[in-house]
Amino acid sequence: MSKANNKPDMLAQKHMITKSKKPKSKTPKTKPDLSVEIAGYRFKNPIWTASGTCGYGEELDTIFDLNRLGGIVTKSITRQPRPGHPTPRCAEESSGMLNAIGLANVGVEKYVAEKLRFLDEYDIGVVVNVAGFGFDEYVEVCAMLADCPRADMIELNISCPNVSTGGIEFGASASDVERIVKAVKKVFPRPIIPKLSPNVTNIAGIAKGAEAGGADAISLINTLIGMSVDIYTRRPGLTNNRGGLSGPAIKPIALSMVNRVYDVVDVPVIGIGGASSAEDVIQFMLCGASAVQLGTALFIQPDLPITVERDLKKYLTSQGLTSITEIIGKIEKY
Ligand SMILES: Cc1cc2nc3c(=O)[nH]c(=O)nc-3n(C[C@H](O)[C@H](O)[C@H](O)COP(=O)(O)O)c2cc1C
Repeated sequence: MSKANNKPDMLAQKHMITKSKKPKSKTPKTKPDLSVEIAGYRFKNPIWTASGTCGYGEELDTIFDLNRLGGIVTKSITRQPRPGHPTPRCAEESSGMLNAIGLANVGVEKYVAEKLRFLDEYDIGVVVNVAGFGFDEYVEVCAMLADCPRADMIELNISCPNVSTGGIEFGASASDVERIVKAVKKVFPRPIIPKLSPNVTNIAGIAKGAEAGGADAISLINTLIGMSVDIYTRRPGLTNNRGGLSGPAIKPIALSMVNRVYDVVDVPVIGIGGASSAEDVIQFMLCGASAVQLGTALFIQPDLPITVERDLKKYLTSQGLTSITEIIGKIEKY
């Protein structure tokens, strides 16, 4: 072997030695951190499932390990069990779906005894969604959850018709929202998240009402009122005639409302409406959301949270970011 021939080998050897001597973690690669803090609670990621689209968690757990979620928001519960509206109560629409389930649920007693207990073993945020048809019903149900430590937070579904005002949604009046949040705060010791209805003219005013009542965070949006029609039977697609529109069709409205609310309140905002990918979640977070709920998209891809989690990490790495919190509210508006 000639000297010349030996040179590269020696260099290679030297290089290898140098390489192996180099401390591996001199410039440590930080794992992208997806955790977010909301109302004093740390969620391992900003991915939550939306109320009414994941039941009480049992079915979803057969598809993926629920521990991968940041939070689960369970189906609205009321004081008494409710069978809901007769079928058809869901109808597929272009870019979305209509539903008028009619708040079918097991009632708070069975919920606490059976459904909530199921979530005991999971290390995720459990957000219990509460609905009611009167002021007193909200307060009573929230009070019944006060001694259930597994109910980390309550999301108040205020898109229900208020019987005492002739059926106008609670969520349509800032003073009603303030009053109801104030009342449930007195009976439930942990965070309260009013979930705002988009079927209003001034979402910022409603959000301020919620904050004035003591809301710890605000989630939005619930579904938009809509209708579908079968031209042959001449009947609406739903037995309730009207229903709530969800899915990709409502995402631009949801983004706009989330951003509007983010600009006027100091509490964290949770985005909901048509999110079906990590890109959508990022859009919501840039608009100000601290977490994002996946709803209708779960019917198409039930293990979507796993894909979204993976892709959020990829996004952070590609952007040279270490924490997802760095993007919250960072939209650069014209
Ligand atoms: C079938 C179905 C049932 C729902 N049930 C509830 C419910 O019980 N309580 C509630 O607050 N929202 C309910 N929602 C609204 C969702 O939680 C969510 O706010 C809405 O669908 C918008 O998000 P998405 O477009 O990602 O689905 C329901 C939505 C669907 C599609």
